[in-house]
Amino acid sequence: MSTFKAVVVEKGDGGQTVALRDFEDKDLMDGDVTVRVTHSTVNYKDGLALTGKAPVVRRFPMIPGIDFAGVVEASSHPEFKPGDEVILNGWGIGETHLGAYAEKARVKGDWLVPLPAGLTAAQAMAIGTAGYTAMLAVIALERHGLRPENGPAVVTGAAGGVGSVAIALLAKAGWSVIASTGRPQEADYLKGLGAAEIIDRKELSEPARPLAKERWAAGVDSVGSHTLANLLSMTKYRGAIAACGLAGGMDLPSFVAPFILRGVSLLGIDSVMAPKALRLEAWSRLARDLDRAKLAAMASTIGLDEVVATGRAILEGKVRGRVVVEIA
Ligand SMILES: NC(=O)c1ccc[n+]([C@@H]2O[C@H](COP(=O)([O-])OP(=O)(O)OC[C@H]3O[C@@H](n4cnc5c(N)ncnc54)[C@H](OP(=O)(O)O)[C@@H]3O)[C@@H](O)[C@H]2O)c1
Repeated sequence: MSTFKAVVVEKGDGGQTVALRDFEDKDLMDGDVTVRVTHSTVNYKDGLALTGKAPVVRRFPMIPGIDFAGVVEASSHPEFKPGDEVILNGWGIGETHLGAYAEKARVKGDWLVPLPAGLTAAQAMAIGTAGYTAMLAVIALERHGLRPENGPAVVTGAAGGVGSVAIALLAKAGWSVIASTGRPQEADYLKGLGAAEIIDRKELSEPARPLAKERWAAGVDSVGSHTLANLLSMTKYRGAIAACGLAGGMDLPSFVAPFILRGVSLLGIDSVMAPKALRLEAWSRLARDLDRAKLAAMASTIGLDEVVATGRAILEGKVRGRVVVEIA
């Protein structure tokens, strides 16, 4: 019997349980590529899966973890051979397909992208799904035609994973970045990533008015709810907000006024099912544009045995930046 170590979520009469244990190779799901997972990460959605606070896990037992980097062990997929370094974000791993918090994963080769030149596996997971999503948001704003000369860019959930990477990417592209955070003690950290101005997230968390003073041309929002509504009401004429998260709530108590009176756009960002060409573009941009010193400043490293506690901490807003899970 061949086994490997994995974090496993199970469902019993008393609800969801999670433990680090041995998992049998024969219980892996179908896939044409087997990967030795070397690194993963803890995203907000992983916190939801690990704690059961939202129905992220759709099959039991489940190995949670929505993204990994690793080395191909076996493959019948034409694009991948043993020894290739690969990364995977989303596509339902850790939700419907056995995921990343394990020494081994078997997945569809179509879900994999090659580790971009210039990034190590650890750096790729320091970026993780949060950072890749931040890149998708920046690409969406650029495709909308927005440029730094149009005005500042606002980033909410600034000290979190998506927020930290978004600040670094926008600052590098020349934007003046306004960072909204509930952690004023992280002001130096956020300025180090490239934020020009820090605002208290309370300014954006009360119910929004239909329109308010125009403050930014663009935004990356991880928070949703009243925060997103306020962002929209304060967006300049023909600006846009890229919405990617719900850390503050799933609702959007907003008005049509920003859309019909200021031509503001709300750009939806999904990383899970994003097409491969867009993933390749995002990863190649990350490898090119993300400052490695800033990436190192936002990342900390844990082992598989610390994943469950970190999942709880991220939901409590206690994790700064990005957490790499070192597996190999
Ligand atoms: N669309 C997609 O494909 C996609 C992909 C990745 C992530 N996401 C979503 O994006 C969001 C951020 O993910 P992440 O991994 O970056 O999580 P994270 O590291 O926990 O960052 C979220 C940040 O939001 C702020 N926040 C937390 N609770 C809040 C509240 N109640 N009200 C206002 N602000 C709050 C905190 O920032 P401050 O302490 O600085 O205020 C926190 O650090 C999550 O909702 C996640 O599910 C979506």
